[in-house]
Amino acid sequence: MKKNITEAIEYIGVDDTDLDLFESQYIVPNGISYNSYLIKDEKIAIVDTVDRRKSADWWQNLETALNGKEPDYLIVQHMEPDHAGNIAATIERFPGVRIVASERAIKMLPQFFEDVDFSEKTISVNENDTLNLGTHTLQFFMAPMVHWPEVMVTYDSTDKVIFSADAFGKFGALSHDEDWACEARRYYFNICGKYGIPVQALLKKNCRT
Ligand SMILES: [Fe+2]
Repeated sequence: MKKNITEAIEYIGVDDTDLDLFESQYIVPNGISYNSYLIKDEKIAIVDTVDRRKSADWWQNLETALNGKEPDYLIVQHMEPDHAGNIAATIERFPGVRIVASERAIKMLPQFFEDVDFSEKTISVNENDTLNLGTHTLQFFMAPMVHWPEVMVTYDSTDKVIFSADAFGKFGALSHDEDWACEARRYYFNICGKYGIPVQALLKKNCRT
């Protein structure tokens, strides 16, 4: 699945429709989508990667969206492998890419990619920090425990788009046409709902614009 969110933001995520159990626990009869985006400006940013189960599809989407250009940044919002499975492969393929992530996420990188040297490959961001891509400015909000401690969300203040990591997630692949609320509720109850207070804290945050 591939579509433009705005003129500058392209969806490069992939569907996984043959996954038996999400997180080895939850049935996903209608599959799941691993969401990933490319923001094309003077600087080019990838927002999240996908699970390694679907690396080949993601690389195809990424290469098509890049259209011969090279990315400058990889925004890592969450270290869970369904978001972050291709971090090491991305910096191997594009050595100039800098990983933009929370301090906690950067500390977790070696736990998931133990043979990779991340020195001088990372940019640590904190609450309200911004990253200018040209006409687009990204603003970062820390979202600890929505659903892991290192999570952050990213707001594109130019196009007014929020990249929400696990917040607002749902079961069911995007290619499967279904009622949104039921599978969104089931996802929330099982994945983020046990962290209700951190979720409420995130919802109370205000973007600058
Ligand atoms: Fe997660």
